[in-house]
Amino acid sequence: MRGWPPGTAGKNTPILEASHDDGGWFFGLFDDHRLAGVAVLGSRLVGKRPRMLQLEFLHVSSPYRHQGLGKPLFNLAVAEARRRGAKWMYISATPSEHTIGFYLRLGCQVMLEPDPDLFELEPEDIRLEYDLDANSVVASVAQDAVSGQCPETT
Ligand SMILES: CC(C)(COP(=O)(O)OP(=O)(O)OC[C@H]1O[C@@H](n2cnc3c(N)ncnc32)[C@H](O)[C@@H]1OP(=O)(O)O)[C@@H](O)C(=O)NCCC(=O)NCCS
Repeated sequence: MRGWPPGTAGKNTPILEASHDDGGWFFGLFDDHRLAGVAVLGSRLVGKRPRMLQLEFLHVSSPYRHQGLGKPLFNLAVAEARRRGAKWMYISATPSEHTIGFYLRLGCQVMLEPDPDLFELEPEDIRLEYDLDANSVVASVAQDAVSGQCPETT
């Protein structure tokens, strides 16, 4: 995939391999055989919110950004989190204006009191949370997309 800052692949690869071995959910969008976007949802409960799962990775390859791929990838992760019984989704986001603007647009909220353990893991990041119940309409539409009934999301 293109658009990773130097060192990011080396840092993320062992984390994602561990998540995969741990039962994490991985979803890739392909353009022919080229990977255009990826979403990864962790399998372990995190934070102090009840039933909170972490969106461990969301990336759209640079040539494919601003074309509406990030949003359905996010919504598919939301649908999977709900399928796994989660109530909240946690996002430790790169502190760039674009990334935070993207998540706020999708209904995420900045965590006012980040969990200390989560803060320690990625202190540079901005921590956000997504209330799955409050955004249940979006999630149910995405669930249809997972089932192959409707590729559109809100
Ligand atoms: C962040 C990222 C996933 C967004 O993916 P994308 O495919 O470009 O986003 P989309 O085109 O699906 O945009 C989705 C929505 O967010 C909105 N949006 C995107 N960037 C925005 C911004 N900076 N401010 C406000 N809204 C924004 C879009 O307008 C769109 O809303 P709409 O459908 O209502 O018009 C992608 O830019 C990326 O991979 N960046 C690098 C890696 C990264 O930062 N990942 C997240 C790490 S935690």
